Amino acid sequence: MAVKAPFNYIGNKYRIIELIQEYFPKNIDTFVDIFCGGCDVTVNTIANKVYANDINYHVIGILQEFQNNDVDFILEHIDTTIEKWKLSKTNESGYKAFRNHYNQTKNPLDLYVLMCYSFNYQFRFNSNHDYNNPFGRNRSSFNEVMRNNLILFKKQIDDIHFSADDFCDFNYDVLKSGDFIYADPPYLLTCGSYNDGKRGFRGWTENDDCELLKKLDMLSDRGVYFALSNVLEHKGSINNLLIDWASENDYVIHDINFNYNNCNYHTNNRNNTTKEVLITNY
Ligand SMILES: C[S@@+](CC[C@H](N)C(=O)[O-])C[C@H]1O[C@@H](n2cnc3c(N)ncnc32)[C@H](O)[C@@H]1O
Repeated sequence: MAVKAPFNYIGNKYRIIELIQEYFPKNIDTFVDIFCGGCDVTVNTIANKVYANDINYHVIGILQEFQNNDVDFILEHIDTTIEKWKLSKTNESGYKAFRNHYNQTKNPLDLYVLMCYSFNYQFRFNSNHDYNNPFGRNRSSFNEVMRNNLILFKKQIDDIHFSADDFCDFNYDVLKSGDFIYADPPYLLTCGSYNDGKRGFRGWTENDDCELLKKLDMLSDRGVYFALSNVLEHKGSINNLLIDWASENDYVIHDINFNYNNCNYHTNNRNNTTKEVLITNY
């Protein structure tokens, strides 16, 4: 059974982890998860050396705090904070007061607690990198499931090398022939939430797709295996850049076929289709 990261990270691959890992190479020496997000894929991939990178340094900061402290300290910090600020599913003023406190002090473990009581458990920041997600009334809390997920997750992250680089600046020299990189970038066709300016990071553009494909070609030439998650078709739009790139280079497109729009199951409209794939160079 896969380990679940103690987040509800936008775009996380937990629900389809088995589907994509079926296509991962076996016996990996060095593994890089270059857009690791909440690390659902990272912690469920076995390798001798593991690198997890994401531009979202707030999330990487939380992951590093989890790594650098023992689990009792982390849980005690969470429980004391919940008690001190009287955080609950209904106490919006307590949530807002704690959010102000976090924005003045920026303690990563506090950010984790704050996220647990926020709307949809999301990490949203304004352009000053202040956390601005609203309260998750009647929905969000640090519950028993998250506590257990955190305890199990913590056991998997001791040896991970975390970094918060833009993928353009990551040091790919850590990868040698036979190693493996997984790339799960924002998807051009569906990534509204990354481009709405509410996450405090630069958005994702077609130019980023191009730069990423160049990096993957460069790594492939060096004998590194890659797997790229993406969406080739979404609500009638098609990512031709990806389709052409894969076919020109003889990369393999694996259908993952998990339809995130299954709330539209009652219609048979092609415009509701999302075609999610994994593209590999092996
Ligand atoms: C689809 S999510 C990855 C989800 C992850 N696989 C998981 O299971 O949680 C895409 C990630 O790319 C990160 N990202 C966006 N632009 C980036 C960039 N230029 N360099 C590195 N990471 C970036 C986002 O912060 C986000 O966490």
